Amino acid sequence: MSSPSRYVRVACLVVAFQFCAGHAIAQNLSRPEALLKKMTLDEKIGQLVQRAGGRSKALNSRLDDAELDRVRAGRVGSYLHVAGAAPLAKLQKVAVEESRLGIPLLFATDVLHGYRTIFPVPLALAATWAPESEERAARVGAEEATSAGLHWTFAPVIDIARDPRWGRIVEGAGEDPYLASRMAVAQVNGFQGGNTLRPGAMMATAKHFGAYGAAIGGRDYNSADLSERTLQEVYLPPFYAAARAGAGSFMVAFNDIAGVPTTSNRELLRGVLRERWGWQGLLVSDWGAIPGLLNHGVAADRATAAILALDASVDMDMTGGVFAEDLKASIAKDPARLKQLDEAVLRILRVKEQLGLFDKPMQYHDTERETRELSNPEHRAAARAIARQSMVLLKNEGKLLPLNPDKLRSIAVIGALATDGLSALGSWRAQGKAEEVVTMLQGITAAAPQTLKVLSAPGADPRSADLAGIPAAVKLAKSADVTVLVIGEDFDLSGESRSRSDLALPASQFELARNVLATGKPVVVVLANGRPLALPWLAENAPVILETWMLGVEGGNALADVLFGKYSPAGRLPAAFPRATGAVPFNYSANATGRPADPDLTKDTVRYHDLPITPQFAFGFGLSYSEFGYSDLSQSTKAIGAGERIDISITVENTGSVASDEVVQLYVRDPVASVARPVLELRGFKRIDLAAGARKRVTFSLTPEQFAFWSARGQWLIEAGRIDFWIGASSADLRANGSFEITKTHTGTAPAAALPTRVIVGTN
Ligand code: NOJ
Repeated sequence: MSSPSRYVRVACLVVAFQFCAGHAIAQNLSRPEALLKKMTLDEKIGQLVQRAGGRSKALNSRLDDAELDRVRAGRVGSYLHVAGAAPLAKLQKVAVEESRLGIPLLFATDVLHGYRTIFPVPLALAATWAPESEERAARVGAEEATSAGLHWTFAPVIDIARDPRWGRIVEGAGEDPYLASRMAVAQVNGFQGGNTLRPGAMMATAKHFGAYGAAIGGRDYNSADLSERTLQEVYLPPFYAAARAGAGSFMVAFNDIAGVPTTSNRELLRGVLRERWGWQGLLVSDWGAIPGLLNHGVAADRATAAILALDASVDMDMTGGVFAEDLKASIAKDPARLKQLDEAVLRILRVKEQLGLFDKPMQYHDTERETRELSNPEHRAAARAIARQSMVLLKNEGKLLPLNPDKLRSIAVIGALATDGLSALGSWRAQGKAEEVVTMLQGITAAAPQTLKVLSAPGADPRSADLAGIPAAVKLAKSADVTVLVIGEDFDLSGESRSRSDLALPASQFELARNVLATGKPVVVVLANGRPLALPWLAENAPVILETWMLGVEGGNALADVLFGKYSPAGRLPAAFPRATGAVPFNYSANATGRPADPDLTKDTVRYHDLPITPQFAFGFGLSYSEFGYSDLSQSTKAIGAGERIDISITVENTGSVASDEVVQLYVRDPVASVARPVLELRGFKRIDLAAGARKRVTFSLTPEQFAFWSARGQWLIEAGRIDFWIGASSADLRANGSFEITKTHTGTAPAAALPTRVIVGTN
């Protein structure tokens, strides 16, 4: 590498660049445009090629000499599943110093909830209802990943998920487009830091664009078949919000919508995303999705698949090999495609420029920075603070929680998940290491005073049907003052390609719970899982249920903080828990029907014969160690017209005896419109902290644009008429309400759920 010829080549490249830049200025061309002019057809196609440098769990394993030759020949634009400041420096040097045009490579991987310091899984981050925490987690992930040579993350996942059988619900923000939009923007800001040229900033990917989460039956990769209105109002808003926040890239969903595979959906990708929304970033296919067009049956051969994807404006082929191998022949047959190819190349080069790769390609390869960043104490402290915020207290009968460790002599920690570091990391764990996880048992042991004996038994493992450990666990529970029973799903039961047909606890977990609860001793059930579950028996029979999802590297410490009362849990459900698997899909914001759901009526309403129509635990629900009063609702006006706003204010008081956060939620309804509207829609929220006895005044500011709906004529429409609103502690706990008028019917420009509601918190 350090031969004199290398320096000659570098010098030549520098001269070439200067020439290029000078030439560009003379012709008023940007650097990407100037480069494009010099590229051969093969080099252009090369930029559209993304290759795997390894499998997701064996990074860099495919980076052999043949791969370096490909880079030298300018046949690759990007690698995924690679990492490490030093190994990637080697690859980047080959690209910038040894390829003809010296175009740098883009290095990508999936950094969803941390890189080495793993935060709670995204569904848990959404349960914080604190976008600032989402942003912080993304920022830490970006700081660590960029120190390890990476430029680009395939996150945030902002797919709306209303069917928890779908395993990928764990990767996103749950069922609601307003909540998901706020979390999308927070993550884009966190990853990109507002400026992709800043060291530590990483390009974000909004994914999986279209309606991936609407897969029929919750079966991953399955078709979606939904109305245009549902697509526009529910599935697309988080993407619109991410595009407006400046997400540098989008990834296309694997699945089809009503028979049109998204990878070849010209109308959605070119029409909606690029033309209507004006977004000009890098559109990457999902893994092998371009050859997947043959499986969908919309392309007879790979050359057609290449053309369909390019025509839809997909810029980069993730591992499919179709652009690499078949695009050239297609273009030879149809030279008109060259223009589309050039546009794709330009979009990729622009991203490389925005990331600073042309000017400082080696700035991502500082090994000292890598050592400093990975798993540093500040990052771990953030992971602990955010893990505390993610937990949702679902039940706390008799105020069994918090436990007073000074008054207890023994505590039994039962359940295989209590010591399962790997499961705490979730299924997308980037470079997270199980041995760096503070498990639940370790966290509780570390926090227990010397006078408190911590006992433990695995009981039963969710991965196995073996119940042999249950008697010993029961014996332990009987001998202890209190039991913390950790049950749920291991990491491999949620995530990509991990849909479940049944939302019940795995059988061994249920048996363990049944036996331990039968002891009659005080039991705190700690749930660890990646999706809403159907737990009717547990909801009825367990006195305490604390939902912890998968909490990341600091999970055990965070759990101990909550169990022993150092922190009052205040997370809220980002998706409802149904009463039975057969009740999904279920969501609070269902359309008004002609025979509305009415719990007091036994027939002729929207209902099941054998189940209440309400969920087990509602969207937005979560308890804390305190109570809150809502009072003095006021509104600034009774009517608003186009361009005007209404301020709705309420006083929230901590009426309990401990400090706690509360998540104040604003819901709305348009009761009479030209199409049936949802019975409730979230349009604002704020997580506030309140000392015991303290009050705060929370003000939500709304504009008519936030009530636009997708009209029967296919446009955003704001109709004159009454709007009802409620403020409360969950979608099922509405404490105060009012209404106002929108005075004028007019067209809107954007999906209402994507638009942020300004929230001001004042003292009172
Ligand atoms: C396939 C997944 O669907 C996508 O989310 C991920 O980014 C890629 N694999 C790359 O790991």
